[in-house]
Amino acid sequence: MILYFSGCGNSEHIANGLAKLTEDTLSKIDPLEARPTINIKQNEALGIVCPVYAWAVPRIVDEYVKRIQSDNKPEYCYLACTCGDNVGRTPERFAKTLSKKGWRLDAAFSFILPETYINLPGFSLDTQESEKRKKELAEERLPHVVKAIKERKKIIDVERGKMPWFNTYVTNALFYGLLITDKKFHVSDACVKCGICEKVCPLKNITVVEGRPQWNGNCTNCMACYHHCPQNAIHFGKATIGKGQYYYDK
Ligand SMILES: Cc1cc2nc3c(=O)[nH]c(=O)nc-3n(C[C@H](O)[C@H](O)[C@H](O)COP(=O)(O)O)c2cc1C
Ligand code: SF4
Ligand code: SF4
Repeated sequence: MILYFSGCGNSEHIANGLAKLTEDTLSKIDPLEARPTINIKQNEALGIVCPVYAWAVPRIVDEYVKRIQSDNKPEYCYLACTCGDNVGRTPERFAKTLSKKGWRLDAAFSFILPETYINLPGFSLDTQESEKRKKELAEERLPHVVKAIKERKKIIDVERGKMPWFNTYVTNALFYGLLITDKKFHVSDACVKCGICEKVCPLKNITVVEGRPQWNGNCTNCMACYHHCPQNAIHFGKATIGKGQYYYDK
């Protein structure tokens, strides 16, 4: 069984690839579900697929996993996380979440894919060339990860980057405390009132009022609304202006 969360399609793409190659079932995480229940069969593997936010599993995914009700614990549990660059100590931090449930993280894999976070000065999307290269490399990596999963290997195979501990525990806390907000989202006159932003928000945080989006304070900055707007009419302060859009086109 594979559970996945994705804002801009990178993790969804990897989850689809893993499900196809491992012939496993795929289920989308609804972060608003109060009591998610899963039925893990004996000997079944559980895969969690999601992006990395500030060098950790997104808090909404972490909280979801904490709430999961299940009769059995998975025999083999792995994390496949997607990132723009690196993941720090994401596996170790997530392993703690699992261990509090009595579950064990047996393996973790990272996939480097195009960047989606551009809400700060100095942060930008990948060039077309880098986007293509990252996608090709991730595609090449998939069968190796699948082999490890099928063999039930106990392995941490991730790109950690510099200062992994600091980023996962210190920068992450600062990031959530200071930067995750929807107060800076605004919409320009280019909006054509299509409602796509409302539909793609995984937290149902957007209400379209008189054709225009309003943000309601429960945001994880996944950037799905920004990147999917057909008019590029949504912006985050001034930081996103002129930076373009990206989502993994199926
Ligand atoms: C809020 C936020 C925080 C992010 N933090 C990191 C990070 O710490 N390290 C990294 O390499 N990429 C980071 N990224 C980039 C995403 O992890 C990467 O683009 C991911 O593949 C997006 O997955 P998705 O398309 O399934 O949403 C971040 C993106 C967002 C939106
Ligand atoms: S997706 Fe863009 S164009 Fe459509 S309603 Fe939202 S802001 Fe307006
Ligand atoms: S409001 Fe936009 S950035 Fe915030 S959670 Fe919803 S889609 Fe993601």
